[in-house]
Amino acid sequence: MTNFADKTIWTGDNLDILRGLNSESVDLIYLDPPFNSNRNYAAPVGSAAAGAAFKDMWTLSDLDVAWMGLIADEQPAMYQVLQAAGLTHGKGMQSYLCMMAVRLLEMRRVLKDTGSIYLHCDPTASHFLKLLMDSIYGQTCFRSEIVWRRTSAHSDTRQGRKQHGRVHDVVYFYTKSDEWAWNPIYTDYDPEYVAKFYKYFEPGTNRRYRLDNLTGPGGASKGNPQYEVMGVTRYWRYSEERMQELVDAGRVIQRRPGAVPAYKRYLDEMPGVPLQDLWTDINPLQAQSKERIGYPTQKPLALLERIIRASSNEGDMVLDPFCGCATACVAAENLGRRWVGIDISSKAVELVNLRLQQTMGELFHNRLVTARTDIPRRTDIDAPVPYRQNKHVLFGQQEGRCNGCRSAFEFRHLEVDHVIPQSGGGTDHIDNLQLLCGHCNRTKGDRPQEYLVARLREMGIAA
Ligand SMILES: C[S@@+](CC[C@H](N)C(=O)[O-])C[C@H]1O[C@@H](n2cnc3c(N)ncnc32)[C@H](O)[C@@H]1O
Ligand SMILES: [Zn+2]
Repeated sequence: MTNFADKTIWTGDNLDILRGLNSESVDLIYLDPPFNSNRNYAAPVGSAAAGAAFKDMWTLSDLDVAWMGLIADEQPAMYQVLQAAGLTHGKGMQSYLCMMAVRLLEMRRVLKDTGSIYLHCDPTASHFLKLLMDSIYGQTCFRSEIVWRRTSAHSDTRQGRKQHGRVHDVVYFYTKSDEWAWNPIYTDYDPEYVAKFYKYFEPGTNRRYRLDNLTGPGGASKGNPQYEVMGVTRYWRYSEERMQELVDAGRVIQRRPGAVPAYKRYLDEMPGVPLQDLWTDINPLQAQSKERIGYPTQKPLALLERIIRASSNEGDMVLDPFCGCATACVAAENLGRRWVGIDISSKAVELVNLRLQQTMGELFHNRLVTARTDIPRRTDIDAPVPYRQNKHVLFGQQEGRCNGCRSAFEFRHLEVDHVIPQSGGGTDHIDNLQLLCGHCNRTKGDRPQEYLVARLREMGIAA
């Protein structure tokens, strides 16, 4: 059950918005977050995306201290990954990963059990992001590490270093469970392979074909039928009736009398090569590409269409929580999927309208896209439990202690508080409620729990 309309673009921080989406409401998530590349991206002035600039730089803030505390309690494996990142790469990386971790957890919640997620990143943080994904989805739900060649060869002269040119991005594919949507994709055969194996041309039609050995492997013991075809007795691959049909249809031919008949396999009847995890056939957007609209990190539509085609079906819901200029949304629209995008920059909603208009032409109308800036409210959680009942349950769960300063209080001195404030999408569900003492409750105010935890640390009160 979804609590948002098809073709919605949200402007806002995806953490707040993800928290307000119903659980198990999307089939496929593609995300292309900022990469922690320590630079600020800005669109070239004058392009359609001018004004879109986003921060791709993190430093350790109070918020991270608090997140780390919460993660330590609830996600011990993830906590170790974040610690390792901090120790080996420093606080900037740790804080970037913290930012990603809390969002990735929400993404898993909103994904259906049969859903898939594609995380697009680059080698700056891909090794840690994979560990994070393993800690969230479990390593058995890891499906592929796709290497996409995003740019043509160049000499990597960054900081004058001598090293190999960096030309690829990494896309991790995970599923939520061991059952997922899958539409195999085939690519064209290599011309060298075609020239080597499909040597024959059918006169008249000019169709290319190869001749395959028709006898079956093994022998009669393996269940292959034995009879005579065109004067040769062997163990055959097909039943006698089927073989006769093939001979009659001209699919089985004999070049020399007495030689083993051969099966004609036409190139145009072959599906192609199943797609592998190395993608070199999707070109990056060139400065003069038609689809380019000037958004700094715009990805090619072909890349998104491939991912969406492989891992969703028509009518499925696709979510891109870092949608940028909404490439994933446009690709989903082109393929008959439903979609929702979120971006902190309001450029997304502007650009998606522009792009849809470009691709849909006459079919486009202005009210197609729902633009939202509010924080959604989940509609999939049970009716709130009466207040007093909650308070007793929480008192038991917290063993009579304030969930901030951890001091013990009498029942009447503890107050019910929202962990995520209602103004931030928090619900009245007991999972989002806690008991705080009066002092902690006033310190926290209408802010999320991380804030209180950080303040208490600052004051030297271990939370
Ligand atoms: C690498 S770009 C995505 C580009 C996109 N795939 C495309 O083809 O246009 C990352 C995007 O994440 C957005 N972003 C960064 N932090 C965000 C947050 N907390 N919530 C939502 N969007 C965010 C940025 O505004 C930026 O547009
Ligand atoms: Zn307290």
